[in-house]
Amino acid sequence: GVTQLLRVTPSMLKEHNKKDDAWSAFGGKVYNITPYIPFHPGGEKELLRVAGRDGTKLFALTHAWVSVDMMLDSCLVGLLVPE
Ligand code: HEM
Repeated sequence: GVTQLLRVTPSMLKEHNKKDDAWSAFGGKVYNITPYIPFHPGGEKELLRVAGRDGTKLFALTHAWVSVDMMLDSCLVGLLVPE
């Protein structure tokens, strides 16, 4: 379907830092990771470390071979932009 992407600033991202409302940015794209939390093979606690913030570096350190683009395509909410 048609997707309207939001322009998300770091402060907007920070508002979604709860387990029941978690957004995170990877490679400049912002995802609603909430529905994925129970399915993360690395556990909920690890994934929640990036809730509300840019997770690009931590993600690259843990599993650069995993494709967020493919896995969380349906959870894409927008693009990370400067404040
Ligand atoms: C494992 C996906 C974010 C830490 C995995 C695996 C996948 C995955 C598919 C299994 C990889 C494999 O076996 O080769 C994702 C996705 C993420 C995400 C889609 C973002 C939405 C993170 C973050 C961290 C993290 C931010 C760390 C802060 C780990 C760890 C494992 C793991 C430690 C290894 C678990 C184990 O093998 O025992 N993740 N991950 N992940 N993830 Fe993530």
